[in-house]
Amino acid sequence: MATERLLSLLRLLSPQQFVSGTDLAARLGLSRASIHLILQSAESLGINIERVPGRGYRLQQAISWLDAAVMQAALDGAWQIEIQPVIDSTNAELLRRPSLTHPFCLAAELQTAGRGRRGRPWSGAVGGSLLFSVAWPFAMDVSRLSGLSLVVGLALAEALDSCGVPRVQLKWPNDVMVDFRKLAGVLIEVQAEVNSHCRAIIGIGLNVQLPAAVRDDIDQAVVDLAQLLPGSIDRNQLLAAILRALAVRLGQFAREGFAACRAEWELRHAYHGQLVNLHSPDGRLVEGRVAGLGDNGQLLLESAGTRHAIHVGELSLRRAVR
Ligand code: BTN
Repeated sequence: MATERLLSLLRLLSPQQFVSGTDLAARLGLSRASIHLILQSAESLGINIERVPGRGYRLQQAISWLDAAVMQAALDGAWQIEIQPVIDSTNAELLRRPSLTHPFCLAAELQTAGRGRRGRPWSGAVGGSLLFSVAWPFAMDVSRLSGLSLVVGLALAEALDSCGVPRVQLKWPNDVMVDFRKLAGVLIEVQAEVNSHCRAIIGIGLNVQLPAAVRDDIDQAVVDLAQLLPGSIDRNQLLAAILRALAVRLGQFAREGFAACRAEWELRHAYHGQLVNLHSPDGRLVEGRVAGLGDNGQLLLESAGTRHAIHVGELSLRRAVR
């Protein structure tokens, strides 16, 4: 609730002009003292606000807010899109809404319990991330969804290319990387339905401009778009481009499976041909060279003269890159 109020306040501010505490208080039906207190908490989200006595408050840097109508127009109405200011997790919320059965996108300005892969948390920043989930129905059994997360990574990479992001690569199974640093991650949760149908909740987190405090909290090498693109980033156009690319690739996946895009995926793989360590969920470590991908998206790893097909695990390069 407090964060929602902060976000409502931030929407009334811009870097161009000061807005007085009295004005803000009147518009939100709060006291000037409350406005002051709420805006102080913005610092903890990495948002800097300038306060000048007698003039009021202004943002030091513009925030590009998400706007469902702008995105829907950019997508010719092909998507249903909902924006929530603050939510625990967009994946968790779509899982709580099983009756949504058509392509639907839920995006949030902020998540309080963002979920990453393998039970890790996922951090984001107000105006500095894209945090969204797509509910996508498939007329097939859950068992045929292997390779889906790779396809999502490929769609993301293609959308980022189309927005001018340089050197976009993938890391098996579905991280989007630039120069061996993570730019975006994908978390897919699947719900089985009757008659061999299922529904995938495809959660995507993308770093747009992470404040130093958020970046320092992440325990791996990360990169954000602000480091890769000149000028400001329009998050609405970016999300629209991602949804467009997703619709194409998910449609292809439903018709032809992962094999149809395997060659394109391999070309993008930052770890193709590299010597790697493969960390299995059960704690085992396999050393080997990445030889490619199988028809269902499994990683082919050559180790001591044997080719292993790996279905789950985490890759790291055998030379450290920071
Ligand atoms: C990863 O660990 O690489 C996957 C990260 C996925 C994060 C996104 S943010 C939007 C959606 N909601 C969540 O709680 N997680 C996903």
